[in-house]
Amino acid sequence: MSFRFNFSSEELEPTENESNDSTAQSPIDKYDSLSSLFRFDKRPFVPPSELIPNNLNDILPSTLVAERVFFPTCEKSVLYKRHLSDVKFQLAQEDNLLETDYNGDTRILELTADSDIVQGVYEGGLKTWECAHDLVEFLSKNISNLDFEGKKILELGCGSSLPGIYILTTKNPFRIDFQDYNEQVLKLVTIPNILLNTLLCPKSEDFFNGTAEIDVPERPNLLDQVKKSRFFMGDWSGLTDIINLNSEQEKYDLIISSETIYNTDSLPKLYNVIKYSLKRPNGIALIAAKSIYFGVGGGVLPFRHLIEQDKVFGIKIFYNAEAHVKREILMLTFLDSFIQ
Ligand SMILES: C[S@@+](CC[C@H](N)C(=O)[O-])C[C@H]1O[C@@H](n2cnc3c(N)ncnc32)[C@H](O)[C@@H]1O
Repeated sequence: MSFRFNFSSEELEPTENESNDSTAQSPIDKYDSLSSLFRFDKRPFVPPSELIPNNLNDILPSTLVAERVFFPTCEKSVLYKRHLSDVKFQLAQEDNLLETDYNGDTRILELTADSDIVQGVYEGGLKTWECAHDLVEFLSKNISNLDFEGKKILELGCGSSLPGIYILTTKNPFRIDFQDYNEQVLKLVTIPNILLNTLLCPKSEDFFNGTAEIDVPERPNLLDQVKKSRFFMGDWSGLTDIINLNSEQEKYDLIISSETIYNTDSLPKLYNVIKYSLKRPNGIALIAAKSIYFGVGGGVLPFRHLIEQDKVFGIKIFYNAEAHVKREILMLTFLDSFIQ
């Protein structure tokens, strides 16, 4: 069957300039949300569950194609992520896996052919969105103020997970867990990206024309690395029951999330996960988002409104990019927190 995946061949194949010039527009910047297509035909939500990777042979191909994402102003100036063409190739090979993606009869690639997001089916995690980039830079610049060592961290709506992976590879968190709506995103992007930035880290000489082909050896330590994290998939509604945080001690010290507040219907669900999973009183949540998501009603204002009405968290805006579409990073702290 033939696929269209909403990424032109130009976007899938970086030019030599893009690949080697750290000041060139990053692949992330190409996907400005103004051109993003949201489909909001209501579908039943996928219930949350935990993905327990017991065998990486079921998840990873024998090679991964990596690209570099440059962060010129950060203390760690490059992260690696799986190239989208490689994801697309694996999806095409595992076509039958997708048959069961939605009600057993719809394939994710077909649904995403003309949309970046199809509500309740595919929530956009295969590509890296702009605010993920902002969040990495914020974490880098504020990393000395925020103490991650020994802390428990959760990235909600992780997709390619660059912010979470930045913390994983620059600080020494006790554990960082990842959640994405789509199981395929966790398997095709999140887990490969964790490995590409840890045990399968490419060397600069591995890169040719902007990509590096990395062999995936059958080594138990790869699974050990992946098993340091927990992975959750499905809707935010009911997620706290699955994470099963029985005591305040088990809760997260830091929750991070990027480009997850575009849909007004989902804001209360996301907010509740943060409220009930964050350790009290000193847990912190960092939410990176566009001020407005045109045409869909979500954005910083409705999210702030919800938080302010609940009177549980204080909000500080720590970053404000006056870009084409304004972007912000909100820091949420409990009102009874000792953190000022
Ligand atoms: C636009 S993507 C952003 C991905 C990534 N954080 C980034 O910035 O590149 C939005 C993410 O939010 C998550 N998401 C959106 N709605 C959700 C819902 N109702 N329940 C659970 N996750 C949801 C999905 O996992 C999806 O990957």
